[in-house]
Amino acid sequence: MERFRDKVALITGAASGIGRATAERLAAEGAKVFCTDVNEVGLAETVAVIREQGGVVHAEWCDVSRPDCARQSVQSCLDHFGALDVLANIAGVGRFQHTLDVSVEEWNRTLAVNLSGTFFMCQAALPALLDRCGAIVNMASSAGLIGQAYSAAYCASKGGVVQLTKALAVEFARRGVRVNCVCPGGIDTPFLAGFRPPAGAEIDLITRLKLVDEKAPPAAVAAAVAYLASDEARYVNGAVLSVDAGLVIS
Ligand SMILES: NC(=O)c1ccc[n+]([C@@H]2O[C@H](COP(=O)([O-])OP(=O)(O)OC[C@H]3O[C@@H](n4cnc5c(N)ncnc54)[C@H](O)[C@@H]3O)[C@@H](O)[C@H]2O)c1
Repeated sequence: MERFRDKVALITGAASGIGRATAERLAAEGAKVFCTDVNEVGLAETVAVIREQGGVVHAEWCDVSRPDCARQSVQSCLDHFGALDVLANIAGVGRFQHTLDVSVEEWNRTLAVNLSGTFFMCQAALPALLDRCGAIVNMASSAGLIGQAYSAAYCASKGGVVQLTKALAVEFARRGVRVNCVCPGGIDTPFLAGFRPPAGAEIDLITRLKLVDEKAPPAAVAAAVAYLASDEARYVNGAVLSVDAGLVIS
């Protein structure tokens, strides 16, 4: 498949997990990929993997929670590859914690990276995406759709990503930019290390909706991102696509 031939994709959170898998997938389908993250070591590994597979890639440090970095990152992508067709907002942070133990700093950081960071990147990228009738794919979570214990800040941030996606999808529908999001359940990445039940947690509150124990590989989410970003999803806008083995069935 060469769905992204002659296209440029900017991927945040590309140093690890789902972001890296997405960068690999889009590059394998012909995209020039501009990878960003705060983890420079991981970014270098992503670049090496993609180059080894024959892909075209450039990487730069970017903290998505800072609007100046978001704007700089988009500008660098345009300077480097001359266009922007796909924005995949995948950077994220989170962990299980008793609500009574959440500090102001942790609350603010979670919202700043997951929700504000997604907004800053969308805002920075939209002028270039409008030029090319591009697409945005945001990474929400099953935790953005249903209640998840010990995850107040994370749930709030991902619920915000779902609504941000819908708001942008309506606003830009007539101007050719589509905005969709993916809601993964448990995906086998380093991220899950932070989602260990905190001391004293009621485990059945965490496992109450789970249908299967298996965690999906990050490539399963990357495939959903690639579909939503591709022209095959031309008539898909404002969608909230779960990749969660049935965790959220309404
Ligand atoms: N793994 C799961 O089970 C799961 C489930 C649902 C949703 N998600 C979401 O998927 C996304 C990717 O998660 P993952 O599982 O690949 O985790 P991961 O920890 O492997 O990757 C997350 C990446 O985001 C980067 N990042 C963190 N803060 C950043 C910042 N301020 N600016 C730029 N980059 C930053 C990290 O350095 C890391 O490389 C996240 O948004 C996460 O909330 C993951």
